Amino acid sequence: ARLVVLVSGSGTNLQALLDAVAADPEGYGAELVAVGADRDGIAGLERAERAGLPTFVCRVKDHASREEWDRALTEATAAYEPDLVVSAGFMKIVGKEFLARFGGRVVNTHPALLPSFPGAHGVRDALAYGAKVTGCTVHFVDDGVDTGPIIAQGVVEVRDSDDEAALHERIKEVERSLLVEVVGRLARNGYRIEGRKVHVGE
Ligand code: GRF
Repeated sequence: ARLVVLVSGSGTNLQALLDAVAADPEGYGAELVAVGADRDGIAGLERAERAGLPTFVCRVKDHASREEWDRALTEATAAYEPDLVVSAGFMKIVGKEFLARFGGRVVNTHPALLPSFPGAHGVRDALAYGAKVTGCTVHFVDDGVDTGPIIAQGVVEVRDSDDEAALHERIKEVERSLLVEVVGRLARNGYRIEGRKVHVGE
């Protein structure tokens, strides 16, 4: 399966996918064909370039409207003919055109146990709420924010000593392996989405 990965930051989830493919190019079942971002100058793009992957950047401020940006992101992504799009720390909400084109084939990873703590500050919100466990969720993207059908989740204990950065790092350790495992299974075994249920490889 052809993967396009979208990033906005350090790209350690991207790196985990790159490493998984490099470790087993035949067996993993997916190949990364391009990396897209909503901003320049991020480590995620450097990781892509180091791996010899094509990259593209679609910045909202370069477009007259959000819809124009969404169209540009859709076209830039479509150029690589992905089977799956993986949003790995991509901090923008994709729009109607993107979902019309790739709906049902966009996987997102979120650093909280959805439906708890959706949005851009899931780690901070779980900590502030006093949650005793949190974690990460890999799900398909629908037209809501972090509301699509859940594929897998991983649980992470919250420690009294945790601040946002420490907790997020521990979550990301679980998140990276969960994302690699899920993306590989989806790519190798195929999947069906029925309402809120995701059936992988049946
Ligand atoms: C991940 O925890 C992702 O869930 C969240 O931001 C983090 C991105 O990390 N949205 P990285 O860029 O993959 O290192």
